[in-house]
Parts: sequence; structure tokens; C-alpha cells
Amino acid sequence: MHIQVLKDDLSRHKTQAAVLINFEGEAKILGVGQEFYSKAGGQIARVIDLGDFKGKNGELSLHYTEDGCLVKRVIIVGMGKRKDLSLERIREGFARAAQKVRSLRLDEFSLSLDFGNLGLPIESVAEAAVEGVILGLYTYLPYKTVEEDNKQKISSLNIYTGNNDLKKVREAVKGAEVVAQAVCFARDLVSAPANEMTPSILAERAKSSLRQKDTKVSVLNKEDMKKLGMNALLGVARGSHEPPRMIVIKYTGGKKSAKPVVLVGKGITFDSGGISIKPAENMDRMKTDMAGGAAVIAIIKAVSELGFGMNLVGIVPATENLPGGNAYKPGDILKSLSGKTIEVVNTDAEGRVILADALAYACRFKPGVIIDLATLTGACIVALGDHVIGMMGTAEDVKKGILRAADVTGEKTWELPLGEIYDDLIKSDVADYKNSGGRAGGAITAAAFLQKFVGDCPWVHLDIAGPSWLEKDRPYIPKGASGVGVRLLVRLFRDLFLEKNKNDS
Ligand code: BES
Ligand code: MN
Ligand code: ZN
Repeated sequence: MHIQVLKDDLSRHKTQAAVLINFEGEAKILGVGQEFYSKAGGQIARVIDLGDFKGKNGELSLHYTEDGCLVKRVIIVGMGKRKDLSLERIREGFARAAQKVRSLRLDEFSLSLDFGNLGLPIESVAEAAVEGVILGLYTYLPYKTVEEDNKQKISSLNIYTGNNDLKKVREAVKGAEVVAQAVCFARDLVSAPANEMTPSILAERAKSSLRQKDTKVSVLNKEDMKKLGMNALLGVARGSHEPPRMIVIKYTGGKKSAKPVVLVGKGITFDSGGISIKPAENMDRMKTDMAGGAAVIAIIKAVSELGFGMNLVGIVPATENLPGGNAYKPGDILKSLSGKTIEVVNTDAEGRVILADALAYACRFKPGVIIDLATLTGACIVALGDHVIGMMGTAEDVKKGILRAADVTGEKTWELPLGEIYDDLIKSDVADYKNSGGRAGGAITAAAFLQKFVGDCPWVHLDIAGPSWLEKDRPYIPKGASGVGVRLLVRLFRDLFLEKNKNDS
């Protein structure tokens, strides 16, 4: 979709549909001049006057203008009360409107950003609107036969504003496009079926999508892993004929001396549970068990395209977890890269096993902080529900920054505790640790296990098992893969590294 920002009154330009907003309790639609409002807006004004359109959040209505009007249709989006306006409401409102435009099979529409005083900077409003449009229009259709006529593609969007600082708005729109496209890229990787998203294919996709200057992708194969001693990852991989991969991405946008942030993403391209096999019901969902890895690749894509002044490393351990004849078994003991031994009590707790090696490897980059993203535990869903990221870790400032970023992006995040009291649960009689602490506090004991492999590095763990996949549509997250974590961490890095520019620590 080609997006353009123009400084003018929207109603002076030809468009198939104008998306305009209305606040509950306000008599007008916003974003067009008085002339349009009194001429073409008559019918619309009546709908509001009569109280048929109340401007409630989530309300939407379509109107046709008179012959000769440059604006053919008006879609009014209710945003609720002005005082309750949030970026989330803007994303949702414009997502709904864009979906309406698509259902009308139009290939172009316009919107205005002039809503009067909102108490929000115009850049943030522009960003949220663009995110809503792009993310709300996302579909995953490569495997569906869609007739050419039924392909509904909106090819252009014109954004109008009277704001004098057009450069600022344009930059915000450009940035939002990059980030939203990165989210869609992550969604594509996660949506792909496991037969077409093997560890090798994931590695190839990382390579082909990260071609920016300052980025380098290297991929460790089985032999490399053997040499290094990544026996935890190799252990999980043994049950499958698909060879494992360790994807290592480096983005060097910061000073040479600046410690990198290292992102680690769980890349289980299919999780059957292994010998501790999962029930058949909903097992297909386990093609999404690489959502953390997909997010890591997408985040680096966005950060490199935006040119943040930071050094960033991405590590994605990728393998299938299958119960083949050579599979690792309950009771097996694996000697991980860190030298510590892991007793496998449940082969379905494979995420933490591969992350043990990835986190130990991450420490070799002497990171300022390690942040891992993983669809790690069903227990996290039990604790926080489907929509909330579980956060645990030791890097206090970064955790605070993540919570602030989450407030902005709407990717709800909640911290769970860590501490020595959980260590007992992952003690093993025969090895250093066991890979499952049982049902109680399952999300936390998984994190407690990970903590054993990060040494002294400041670290944050994000359990995205719930929000990585939606069973029901939300306005700008159509059901399926959400791309969760991408906007969150790009926002965090923007707060830490863009505004301050090049960093030293
Ligand atoms: N990939 C799953 C966690 C998961 C569950 C992600 C549901 C998304 C939706 C993970 O590998 C797993 O199987 N975890 C087990 C751990 C248990 C065996 C200790 C779980 O949560 O049941
Ligand atoms: Mn599992
Ligand atoms: Zn898993």
C-alpha cells in the first residue's frame, strides 16, 4: 500500500472513501472543512443529530455523498469520549475502517488526522492510525485459491493534515509503516505451516530478509553445534530428520565500544511434545512455537531499516521437537554448552532446553542485556490469560522500559516473580537441573531454569505463549499469528537508543 501525507483539507481531493471520526457527545464529524460539512455533510450531520450515530467506541457507519462531490463515501468511526481517547482506540478505529473499505472492494481511501485537541502528539496519532490500517488489513492467504477478482487489495492511502510540521508527520508515518510491515513479516513466518517452515527454511528467510547494511546473518549447522558443545539443542533435535539451525544475526548500528543488546527467540518450528507427546487436540497450533524466533528476526529487520544507533544481536535456536526413533527421552541427561547438565524429565519442556544453549551462547557477546522471547509455557496462559505477556528477569531498568513501551503499544505485559524459593523445584537428583518443575508456578520455574544459563548478564524473559496466537479476531490483530513482541521491543529500543542517539554503555 502506498501511503502519502498531504497538507490540505481532505474534502478538496477526489477519493472513493474518506474515513472521519466522531467523538461521543460531539455534534460533528472531524477532519473536514465547514464547506464540505454543510454541503455533503448534511445527511451525516442528521445521523448524528438524531442520535442514530452516537460516536461510541467501535461504532462505524457508511454514508454516500451527493453527485459531484469529490468524496464519494464517508465512513464515520466512533471513538468514544474525547477524554478517553488512547492510541489503542485510534489503532482499533482505523483498523475497523480499513476493513470496511476492503469489504467495499475499494482500492484507495483517505483519512484525516485533524481531530482538534487530543492531548496526544500528532506523530503518535499518525503512527497509531497507520499501524491500525496495515495491521488490521493483514491476511495470510498463500495457500488458499483466491480468484483474481476476489483479491481485495487497497493500493493507496492518502493522509491529510493541516499540521504545519509535515516533515514530522511524514517521518512518523514512514516509521510506523516499517514497524507494521515487520509485524506482518513475523505473522507470515508464524502462520506458515511447519512443513514449509523448517529450521533450514527459517534460517533462509532470516538471510533473505535481512539485507540491510550493518546486518549480517550467519547460521550454525549440526557440525558447528557439535564442535561448540550445544548438546542441549542437539538433544531436542534428535527426534527429527530435519537438521537444527542456530541463526545468529548481528546489527551494528552503534559505536564499536557499545555493548550489544542480545535478543534470543525460541525457534521450535513444530512442537509435538516429543516422547512426552502432546494430545492430538490443537496440536496443529504448535507450528507457532517459533513465534519468539520470528519476532527476533522481525525486530532486527525493523531496527536496521530505521537505523537505530545500537548494536543488536539476534539468536534463534531452531529445531523440531518430534518423537523419532532417535529422540531424546525422559530420564536422559544432556550436557549443555555452559557445562551444566540437564535431566530431561519431560521432553515437552523442550523450549527451555534449547534456550539453555542459546542463552549461554548469548553471554559470549558480553551483552548489556539479554532479552528472550519464547512461547514457553501453557502455565503462563493459565496465569495471565491469552492476551498478556509474562515478564521475568533481573534487568530492572529494562523491565521498567518494557512496561512503559507496553503501555504505548498495547501489548499488555505483566511481571511475575523470580527468586531462590523456586530453585528447589528445578533441582535434580542426578544432574545440575531438571527441565520441569511440575505444575505449580510453571511459568516461573521455566524462567528460573533459564536464569541458570545467563550467568551474571542482565536479562529479561518474555513468555509470549498466550498472545502470540489469537483464536478470535481483534480489530488490528486478525485471528491467527499476532506478531506480538515486535512493536514492543522496537518501541523499547527507540526509547533507549534513538532519542539519545548513539549510546556508549
Ligand atoms: N510450546 C509449549 C508451550 C505452549 C503451550 C505454547 C500452549 C503455546 C501454547 C511448550 O514447549 C510446552 O510444551 N510447555 C509445557 C511445559 C511442561 C511440560 C513443563 C507446558 O506448558 O505444558
Ligand atoms: Mn513443548
Ligand atoms: Zn514448545
